[in-house]
Amino acid sequence: MVKPVEFTFEETNIDEISTFAGRVAVFVTPEGSLDPAARRVNRLTKGAVARLAEDNLKAGDARVLAYPVGMAAEAVDVICLDRRASIEENRAAGVALAKTRGKAPLLVCVGNNNKAAQIVLGLALRDYRFDAHKTDAEQDDVRTVTVMSSKHEVIEANALPLLAVAEGAFFTRDLVNEPANVLTTTDFADRLVAMGDLGLQVEVLEEDKLAELGMGALLSVGQGSVSPSKVVVMKWMGAGDDRAPLALVGKGVVFDTGGISLKPAGGMEDMTMDMGGAGVVAGTMRALALRKAKANVIGLVGLVENMPSGNATRPGDVVTSMKGDTIEVINTDAEGRLVLCDVMHYAQETFKPSAMIDLATLTGAVIIGLGHDNAGVFSNDDHLCNGFLRAAENEGEGAWRLPLGKSYADQLKSRIADVKNVGGRPAGSITAAEFLHRFVQDGTPWIHLDIAGVAHVKSDTTYAPKGATGWGVLALSRLVQERFEVVEEE
Ligand code: BES
Ligand code: MN
Ligand code: ZN
Repeated sequence: MVKPVEFTFEETNIDEISTFAGRVAVFVTPEGSLDPAARRVNRLTKGAVARLAEDNLKAGDARVLAYPVGMAAEAVDVICLDRRASIEENRAAGVALAKTRGKAPLLVCVGNNNKAAQIVLGLALRDYRFDAHKTDAEQDDVRTVTVMSSKHEVIEANALPLLAVAEGAFFTRDLVNEPANVLTTTDFADRLVAMGDLGLQVEVLEEDKLAELGMGALLSVGQGSVSPSKVVVMKWMGAGDDRAPLALVGKGVVFDTGGISLKPAGGMEDMTMDMGGAGVVAGTMRALALRKAKANVIGLVGLVENMPSGNATRPGDVVTSMKGDTIEVINTDAEGRLVLCDVMHYAQETFKPSAMIDLATLTGAVIIGLGHDNAGVFSNDDHLCNGFLRAAENEGEGAWRLPLGKSYADQLKSRIADVKNVGGRPAGSITAAEFLHRFVQDGTPWIHLDIAGVAHVKSDTTYAPKGATGWGVLALSRLVQERFEVVEEE
């Protein structure tokens, strides 16, 4: 797995600043004032930092002093940051450092910025590469960052849970970037089982068990592939055994050819990301375990591969879901909902969750509607939904609510079965959500997140280089913290 940057937190030490062989970063304000750490570097460089700071810098600007006199450093990065900078602006300063730094070790001198942990998070999130398959990559080139401050203990205590979340997002990105010949259903399950080391209870349900449970919808998707279908259950019980858990359910189609309703060749290679929902569930569970969240959360992923073959499901086939509803498969490329409906039903029957959130790269239509900036959000519960939307906004992860409604559900009426798996071209993302809605039990607050547009992108985003983004891990971790963690009694 790709390691996030390695951070150490230290007390400010002027000797170390002057002898540090690498890059040194300091912060100045738009008004041109220097924090205590920047003043020290300024003294070493005989006023060079102050001269830059007077140069009409705007918040967010970055300047470089190359080979500064009086220091061993190869460069000093001078970052302009407002004293009352928001979480977002502090993260952006970290992003700027991630971009300028190259390979040299970095010494970040943060003075008395009480949101310095957010700089660390921005730096960590943006400093990601996926070079597992580049033969010329230096595989164990772990980059080190030292954060120096007079309040280093406070900053470290604030940064560690944020770095846990960054590591969760990296886990998601690695899974989503991995090609389908490497990340088979078996390989995916193995990587989740390995998270048992972090204190998660991980269980793999194999095909015979899924058949016994009656998951005919999920199994119909994977039956054309040589890779066996699996459901993996990851439990994090950080709040004791008697609190109902939150259930997170993810679509894990390791490759989506469309099946017999085969997709066109152009762009089909992108369907390695069709396990993005399962990737976010896995990354969130990792983050919760790493930061030892005081919440009960159960992550469930349906892992299948959608392939055409002599044994594949045909358009027109009728399959029976675990719930008992029969489904006419009009289009074998609308497979994600067939996977999710069985895992969602199993999650509710088995764990009686207090709420359920599913994530899936479910429809191309959500990309037509919302592009790559916002995930589609659907919910039967305003309170839960508003909590999620606020968490996503605070984390800079775009999310936009779309409606549900009976007339959309009516588009799914089948002539011969209880329901069909596609509702025609109009409102394709909403009819997909209404298909899932059928499998949500009365009284279960539920959110469906259609992440087809945001899980994987073709150009760099604020916090990630192009490719997998890890969208959702930050927002879900925050939602768990705000809504599902037990608060210690005073
Ligand atoms: N995995 C796709 C959706 C998708 C498309 C994800 C583009 C990411 C990028 C999904 O399984 C699918 O094929 N959906 C069909 C549904 C249709 C057949 C009703 C679609 O969106 O075309
Ligand atoms: Mn499909
Ligand atoms: Zn799909």
